[in-house]
Amino acid sequence: MLGVHLSVLLLLLPACLQAARILAVFPFPGPSQYINVVPYLKTLASRGHQVTSINAFPQKKLVKNFRDIPIPEVFNNYDEIINKLADPMNLWLENNFVNKFFVDITRSVLANKEVTETLLPPGKDHYDLIIVEALRSDAYYGFAAHFNAPIIGISTFGTDWNIDELVGNVSPISYTPLVTAGFTDRMTFGERVSNFVDTTIAWVNYKLVHMPEQEKLYEKYFPIASKRVPLNELNRNFSLVLLNQHFSLSFPRSYVPNMIQVGGLHISHKPAALPKDLEEFVQGSGTHGVIYFSLGSNVKSKDLPAERLQLILKTFATLPQRVLWKFEDDQLPGKPENVFISKWFPQPDILAHPMVKLFITHGGLLSTIESIHHGKPVLGLPFFYDQFLNVKRATQAGFGLGLDHKTMTEQEFKETIERLVKEPRFAEKARQMSDRYRDQPMTPLDTAIWWTEYVLRHKGAYHMRVAGQDLGFFAYYSLDVIAALLAGALLILTVTLGLIWKIAKITGLGNTKNKQKTQ
Ligand SMILES: *[C@@H]1O[C@H](CO)[C@@H](O)[C@H](O)[C@H]1NC(C)=O
Repeated sequence: MLGVHLSVLLLLLPACLQAARILAVFPFPGPSQYINVVPYLKTLASRGHQVTSINAFPQKKLVKNFRDIPIPEVFNNYDEIINKLADPMNLWLENNFVNKFFVDITRSVLANKEVTETLLPPGKDHYDLIIVEALRSDAYYGFAAHFNAPIIGISTFGTDWNIDELVGNVSPISYTPLVTAGFTDRMTFGERVSNFVDTTIAWVNYKLVHMPEQEKLYEKYFPIASKRVPLNELNRNFSLVLLNQHFSLSFPRSYVPNMIQVGGLHISHKPAALPKDLEEFVQGSGTHGVIYFSLGSNVKSKDLPAERLQLILKTFATLPQRVLWKFEDDQLPGKPENVFISKWFPQPDILAHPMVKLFITHGGLLSTIESIHHGKPVLGLPFFYDQFLNVKRATQAGFGLGLDHKTMTEQEFKETIERLVKEPRFAEKARQMSDRYRDQPMTPLDTAIWWTEYVLRHKGAYHMRVAGQDLGFFAYYSLDVIAALLAGALLILTVTLGLIWKIAKITGLGNTKNKQKTQ
């Protein structure tokens, strides 16, 4: 449904807009974050805008109106960081660790030679719009002040307390769990306590440890002091935030008007036929069907502990289905007949294939959205970050099950696969999720383009900004009002008590001493 309307709707978008110069900043070293926005950036370019994109995955072919500024520096020890993230840490240290990672990425962007030589020198370049990955990289939000241009943020996983602050959105922590917590919107009392404490720790760590580092970077790299704006004003002044989320994928909740859901932004193509060898292998599965197994682009299944690999291999060997396994090596010793390995698969085309019955996934958001889009049940083996949450949501929604890849036994793995393939309710639920998700007035990509150009047409669309962004902490939470009312109440109480005391004295009531004397 979505794919068919795409081209028609793009033609309907207002075309009278002047072409703009757009600076996009998406330096995160994990490929899926960039994959998520490339169709959006390229569509902007195809609509006549000049796009300069700072990123870690430059285009292989020349794209019209599209210039890459590659930041390969962000790959320094990325693998190490990913492996470390999977280790348990206390929450304060984990926040330090993650925030330092983002400070390093921010520094890589601002210290990059092409950035310092072609973008930042006074008068060298100009932009009409800045689009950034909103990922705790406040210093590079400084491009907005530097170029005096409105700024749009894109968040690949949805919102949290940090993204909320950019536009003054509110996420009640009673039903919005921290992305990393692995809770759903329906939390027990214990989970709510944990969510409250964890959110507070993350917030305090951000303000005390992270922001001073970002301030330093901002002052160091943006050369025109007179154009610098305090970072805590810049990061409350976003024109728009696009969220890679949708209520049909997660849970219903409220957003301010300049926070727009575009979950599945990257799904823009019509499913293509599979390569010949792959199609033959899939067809060879007969009525049993095919299972697709991929741990995404960050976790490499070839690096799993040998004993875990053996367990997976042995399980697959006993299945009647055939298995497509995204495996990052040419050789997989002991690979059974019914398993096909490849370093890369056309994932959306595979998920669209009617003979694919199950997706065994790490539970990354993009994979989860693709699975829902194509209506396929999932078996989640989460590793880190939001993956636990995504798998839990799949379980809660009823189109998937999750296992702990570190501790699962062969029997558990096999039984879970069998349940997901055999019990029809999982496939039915996946189809229902797909129907709900696809039933939208515009595709996520069209929606994103429309709102982006809306910001251009209305010169930053400042009229969408909620007034709360200009209030201080005490005024925002009405603490000043509460304090004034309490003080007033206290005053009235004091005066009333004083009066009663006076009246009592005048009328002689309560003067027990006198009474006793007269008796
Ligand atoms: C906030 O954004 C508006 C519109 O883009 C701009 O005019 C204003 O100068 C910005 N203020 C700050 C503090 O960045």
